[in-house]
Amino acid sequence: MPRLVIVSNRVPIPGDRNPAAGGLAVGLADALTEGSLWFGWSGRRASTTSEHPAIVSAHGVTYATIDIAEIDYRHYYTGFANGALYPLLLYRLGLMSFRQEDYAGYRTVNRAFATVLAPLLRPDDMIWVHDYQLFAVGHELRACGVEQRIGFFLHTPFVPPPLFCALPRAVELLEALCACDVIGFHTHDYREAFLQCVRVLLNIEADSEATFTYRGRVIQAIVAPIGIDVAAFTAMATRNATSVAANSLMQSLGGRPLGISVDRLDYAKGLPNRIQAVDRLLAQYPEHRKRVTFLQIAAPSREELADYRGLRRELDRTVGEVNGRYSEADWTPIRHITRAIRRSSLAGFYRLARLGIVTPLRDGMNLVAKEFIAAQNPADPGVLILSRFAGAAEELTDALIVNPFDADEVANAMHLGINMPLDERQSRHKALLASIRGSSARRFCQHFLEVLSPQPVHSAEPTDV
Ligand code: UDP
Ligand code: G6P
Repeated sequence: MPRLVIVSNRVPIPGDRNPAAGGLAVGLADALTEGSLWFGWSGRRASTTSEHPAIVSAHGVTYATIDIAEIDYRHYYTGFANGALYPLLLYRLGLMSFRQEDYAGYRTVNRAFATVLAPLLRPDDMIWVHDYQLFAVGHELRACGVEQRIGFFLHTPFVPPPLFCALPRAVELLEALCACDVIGFHTHDYREAFLQCVRVLLNIEADSEATFTYRGRVIQAIVAPIGIDVAAFTAMATRNATSVAANSLMQSLGGRPLGISVDRLDYAKGLPNRIQAVDRLLAQYPEHRKRVTFLQIAAPSREELADYRGLRRELDRTVGEVNGRYSEADWTPIRHITRAIRRSSLAGFYRLARLGIVTPLRDGMNLVAKEFIAAQNPADPGVLILSRFAGAAEELTDALIVNPFDADEVANAMHLGINMPLDERQSRHKALLASIRGSSARRFCQHFLEVLSPQPVHSAEPTDV
């Protein structure tokens, strides 16, 4: 059986004091098998980019990481990956800022990843590169003479040609990506957008199986929605629903309903829009005043970027305005936490909530939506309100699907969710649970690796179905 080599910018080494709050790290950690190698950035900015990896092993997995030089980091991570590519892929062209030196730094770091990784590889390895930070790693590995199968998975949406063409160097980047054998996306829409870009920018038509040939390489584009380990998350939620923190949250509510939202503090997550929707709810349905409480957990993210710092200020201001407008001496509508909270604590909080409000303006998948469902008590489940622009909406059709730009529509969904009868909550939850079991973390990995593998991978049946 081939060894799996995961390559990603963030590497969630067990025991690290600052685990990355993000779907990529969570989804892959859930699915990782013994014997695998995980390669990426150490999280350290140094005076030079490492030429050799630091290696540690934990739970049968080897983690190999490199430091990145401060200057490279600024061009690669802050400049190109998060200042240009990320806003573009999240449909925020107005936030895209391109500078040639950032692009050059991005290519330098992608090359450094490949140069350090290549000597660690074995002939029967399967290499699986992740996300927009590393579009060119496959290409750079090929330049180092690596001939093993290489897969790439994009955790964000992909955008159609009119948007993608706005990125200077779009063709170069697409060509670099086409050094991989398998390219995966969360949804059919993202894959279609990618294939359209291949058609328009590279003048290559994929066949009906989403396969095309570029410079002699047959490339397969697949749809593989990432998921969570449902059984493990349900168990974690059940355990943590009676923790000290969850108990004191429950007591503070005094039997009244809770709406919960959990996000990285990112402009794609629609945080100010969601606060406006709470405002509309309390304005239009005064019966919820002094009754419903919203808990917004917003984990700080990418604070090197001005757009992220600006968002934090905007959120603080908007929350303050709404709280100022509606609070009473003994009730505040929005509790607002701008710190990362442990995933196990979140699991317990989800289980106590009547509403899970997941309303990004755009999102690759959104694992919080799946976690909220897994955490519910099937006998008395909460209601998921989900943005139609989250990748998860393609699967989770039994949620209350909303347009996050329409504050009144989201407010109406909140009202509906708070008042939804038990039998409807149960039947929606049952369907949603079946759906997240059908695309668990393990299935996601198995599916991708089956396509990537030169021969079928024989692995144990998923246990979380
Ligand atoms: N998360 C966490 N603590 C926080 C905020 C988020 O552990 O304070 C986790 C959350 O439970 C989820 C992941 O980070 O597993 C976020 O993934 P998602 O796909 O929702 O969004 P992303 O951050 O990848 O855009
Ligand atoms: C999203 C991206 C991941 C990223 C994560 C956290 O999930 O798709 O690639 O790791 O956000 O963001 P950060 O910039 O802190 O790694």
